[in-house]
Amino acid sequence: MRFLSHSIIAGRNVKIVKPLFLNILYTIAGEPMLLDMTEFLHHAIMAFSGHNTQPWKFRVKENLILIYPDLSRRLPAVDPLDRKLYISLGCVLENLVIAAGHEGYRTLVGYSFQNGAISVNLEPADGKIDDDRLFNAIPIKQSTRRQYDGRSITEADVERLASLPLEQGVSALFVANPEKIERVIGLVKEGNNIQMNDRNFIQELVSLIRFNEAEANRYRDGLSSKAMGNPSLSRIIGKLFMKFFLDAKGQLKKDEKYIRSSSALMIVLPEKNDRDSWIKTGRSFERLALCATILGIKNAHTNQPCEVPELKKKLQKLLSAGNMHPQLLLRLGYAEPLSKSLRRSVSEVII
Ligand SMILES: Cc1cc2nc3c(=O)[nH]c(=O)nc-3n(C[C@H](O)[C@H](O)[C@H](O)COP(=O)(O)O)c2cc1C
Repeated sequence: MRFLSHSIIAGRNVKIVKPLFLNILYTIAGEPMLLDMTEFLHHAIMAFSGHNTQPWKFRVKENLILIYPDLSRRLPAVDPLDRKLYISLGCVLENLVIAAGHEGYRTLVGYSFQNGAISVNLEPADGKIDDDRLFNAIPIKQSTRRQYDGRSITEADVERLASLPLEQGVSALFVANPEKIERVIGLVKEGNNIQMNDRNFIQELVSLIRFNEAEANRYRDGLSSKAMGNPSLSRIIGKLFMKFFLDAKGQLKKDEKYIRSSSALMIVLPEKNDRDSWIKTGRSFERLALCATILGIKNAHTNQPCEVPELKKKLQKLLSAGNMHPQLLLRLGYAEPLSKSLRRSVSEVII
């Protein structure tokens, strides 16, 4: 199955084994080229995902791509309800839709989870659906977990992000008021205190840290030291270091410094708190981050207040968000990029 490639040719659906070979034949015959759908997946899987778990699997059926959750990649300690997992599926879905649109395919997305999957039907359109900018931003965007340079984002750019059309029922809020940002830092502190004293949380986190390049290249997932701006260490030393030096106080000191160096906070919040809304939150977030990338703006998560239920309520109140559900909290600003986080190959995620 992995070696099969599925393609669409100008309205006709064909399933082929060797697209390159057939493309040569079609070119000789003057027929339109076959489109290799794995190209869409190549861009799709560059999506954000919680702890870079990449919790997705794909089935490609003629003009239909099904996205399945990979439940073996759940994060039960930090994400017991699979909220992050489904937000991550929304991120991968958004990239897929952008990549297909870039190649001139209209997409019809089904959230109904028939057979446990999100369905994406592809239909040839007349020419490209989107301009190239979102597509070109996909390989560049990243979570830039480092100190930012303190420059302010212009009001015009905040307005550009704030006016981006998001998925139905999902909104984004932007906070630049220093006093409000300090109050959010207070919630991050409370979150760190709870999470850093939770053994399961720490164990899960450590299991996904790739302490050196050899580990990062072997797994091609998780949180690599390089992508987090940390030095490369052997696993034994890295674990010892975390055991003795990773605590709530140290983490907060770093978080405070990083948040204060940023220009604004962005909160993505849907009206509902169910699986479909999480997927739509992921789609909206990916689009916002791509748009920010086009504007040269970096982002990094500081999600603690969204992950601890009692803090979520406090954040809701602080933001005057009514009954909306803050799902992602990010800082925005300017910084040099960090090393890229790796992804598994397309062949590993096709079933
Ligand atoms: C739902 C979700 C939650 C995330 N939560 C955090 C977080 O709490 N802290 C963090 O540093 N990054 C967080 N991230 C970012 C991921 O760790 C990041 O996307 C992944 O490591 C891949 O790295 P890249 O985005 O730079 O390619 C989150 C991403 C998603 C989609």
